[in-house]
Amino acid sequence: MAQRVGSGQRCGVPAVVLCLVALLCANLLLYVYLDALYEGTSPPSAHMHCSPGYFKVGTMKNCTPWLQCPEIHANVRRLRLIGQGAVKQVYLSEWQGQKVALCVLTSEQYKADFLHGVSMLRSLQSVRVVSLVGVCEEDGVFVTEYHPLGSALTLDSTLAQDRYRSQDSWHVRLRLALDYVVFLVFLHNSPVGKRVMCDSNDLQKTLSQFLLTSDLRLLANDLDALPLVEHGGQGIKCGHRQLMGEFVAPEQQWPYGEAVPFSDDLMPGYDEKSDIWKIPDVTRFLLGHVSGSDVIQLHLFQIHAECKRRNPKLRPSAHEVLRVYRSVYDGMKESHTESVRDML
Ligand SMILES: Nc1ncnc2c1ncn2[C@@H]1O[C@H](COP(=O)(O)OP(=O)(O)O)[C@@H](O)[C@H]1O
Ligand SMILES: [Mg+2]
Repeated sequence: MAQRVGSGQRCGVPAVVLCLVALLCANLLLYVYLDALYEGTSPPSAHMHCSPGYFKVGTMKNCTPWLQCPEIHANVRRLRLIGQGAVKQVYLSEWQGQKVALCVLTSEQYKADFLHGVSMLRSLQSVRVVSLVGVCEEDGVFVTEYHPLGSALTLDSTLAQDRYRSQDSWHVRLRLALDYVVFLVFLHNSPVGKRVMCDSNDLQKTLSQFLLTSDLRLLANDLDALPLVEHGGQGIKCGHRQLMGEFVAPEQQWPYGEAVPFSDDLMPGYDEKSDIWKIPDVTRFLLGHVSGSDVIQLHLFQIHAECKRRNPKLRPSAHEVLRVYRSVYDGMKESHTESVRDML
């Protein structure tokens, strides 16, 4: 009898240990799963950081000084045209076995914009800006890191591909919207002063200035029109022509009605708050229509209403928008984690 009780106890101990081990394994699996789910909130691995004046792209091991005219002439080989805007033609090219993008000035009439873009690319190298590889100003060319997915305009078609379909989630899309706002925070507090993203008169144009990286992050690419808002100055103007449409901010539009013909000299200046006005429209595109994006839109309703205030002074700063976006992102992650835990 005593023996039987004893053997029962001997069997009971391993069973409890087994249960504990199983529980531990389940926990471990859960954490590995959640970790995998949220990996990639850090900067993209493709964008590797070097000291100013240096670059590293593709499979390169070391940071190398930006390429100059002789090296670009001799060793950057054009493969095919991959993009075209008003100012540049962009060619997929090859340099020492690395794929790069060669940007070529289309017409001398845009030389000033081109040079401004190059100078901004040099000054604003950072985690949310495309890597500069080299410049040859006198030839009107510069070279950047190549991103095979192209501009942010391709987002929906990219996420519809078999390869990316599993990543077409609120999580990836909200992270893109965060990338966009993070870039605006950077631009409005940049090392070269408060800059405005002017080449953004409609949604398509705005999206075409950003690249989609292979790990589905957003990088600012076209920096040809970033005027400086001077403290106590007259403000900036995005070009010299009359701007129209719902996408541009009210202060970017001719204020004197049809009775007075448009004149650039009479057009008042404005500031970085015109970028804030555009945030809700860009975010709506980036969030798309996946499970969860309507809940996010609901959470962002208040801050977006503030971005759309007609008086630019009453709009939040990019930093304030970012704070709300981050809290919505964290909140969504939290509730998603809880529902995954409940399911297990
Ligand atoms: N580094 C790059 N990698 C991949 N595609 C690029 C790259 N740079 C530009 N492109 C493509 O070329 C298009 C035009 O480039 P962009 O710099 O906006 O020229 P523009 O100043 O003429 O508007 C982009 O919208 C994008 O589709
Ligand atoms: Mg462009």
